[in-house]
Amino acid sequence: MNLKESIESVRSSFRTDSDPFPKDQQSAEDLRIKYMGRKGLVSDLFTSMKDVTPENRPLAGKLLNELKQEISSFFNSKIDSSVSGKSNNGESDYTLPGLEFPVGHTHPIQQTMEDIKSIFMNIGFSVAYGPEIDDDFHNFSALNFPPEHPARDMQDTFFIDPETVLRTHTSNVQIHLMEEQDPPLRYIVPGRVYRNEAISFKSYCLFHQVEGLYVDKHVSFADQKGILEYFVKRMFGANTKMRFRPSFFPFTEPSAEVDIWSENRGQWLEILGCGMVDPEVFKSVDFNPDVWHGFAFGMGIERICMLKYGIDDIRLLYQGDMRFLEQF
Ligand code: DAH
Repeated sequence: MNLKESIESVRSSFRTDSDPFPKDQQSAEDLRIKYMGRKGLVSDLFTSMKDVTPENRPLAGKLLNELKQEISSFFNSKIDSSVSGKSNNGESDYTLPGLEFPVGHTHPIQQTMEDIKSIFMNIGFSVAYGPEIDDDFHNFSALNFPPEHPARDMQDTFFIDPETVLRTHTSNVQIHLMEEQDPPLRYIVPGRVYRNEAISFKSYCLFHQVEGLYVDKHVSFADQKGILEYFVKRMFGANTKMRFRPSFFPFTEPSAEVDIWSENRGQWLEILGCGMVDPEVFKSVDFNPDVWHGFAFGMGIERICMLKYGIDDIRLLYQGDMRFLEQF
């Protein structure tokens, strides 16, 4: 059989194979590969071109290109009609498979933030937000940071000008809330915070926190313990072991940090800071510390997310790598 006959035989077998055109995508793809694949029938014909005598080659090449053109435009018209939902003669073809739209999903940081918000909203906390660019007063002074406190150092804080910073924590919103509203107050404040730190597996220049603030007449450290225990059990499971460890923050007195026990690592891991609002903080917003009492807490969302899902490098949360993100 010469090449011309072979071309005709592939053409007629393609016409038989493709009528009717397969309805499911896999068979359609198999058909395409059989003819147009790298080792398909059309490609075989091109390989046999080398056996054609030089004087017959131009004609054989022309015929072969026509065949290739015919088959590939046939497949293209099928793709067009499945995209538009119309068959070749312009009528809607309801038997064509639908298009699959890729559905996105929530980023693990956002997911963790939503979980934290819903736990606190269930027990009567409202959600508030505040500025990411703020003045020294709200980020530091009103929170009882003395002027020479190391946190103001250029090492830790991004200054916009000597009086203006990218907030280093969500605690600045405690001050805004107390300036704007009279007690009682019961808020959580999720948001982004910024620190001028070397980027490594455990720190990033930008991260997220959730702040909590509860101010009323008879708020005690026991209330704070109860609420944070409730939070830890809902977030990490009812059998999670936790402890309050004495600590220091300029804006709380007494202050504590909460650790949870990690069975996997066999060690205590810090998850948040907390304490009773320092009377000096109340004074800076004109709340009478003899009448009002409060507790505050703050937690890093990345940290909680990493502990919950066993992620060991914070940078993974910021790289947008689908192989990582699709696991959530
Ligand atoms: N602002 C602290 C930080 O960035 C966290 C914190 C600790 C917030 C104790 C609080 C608190 O409200 O009471 O590390």
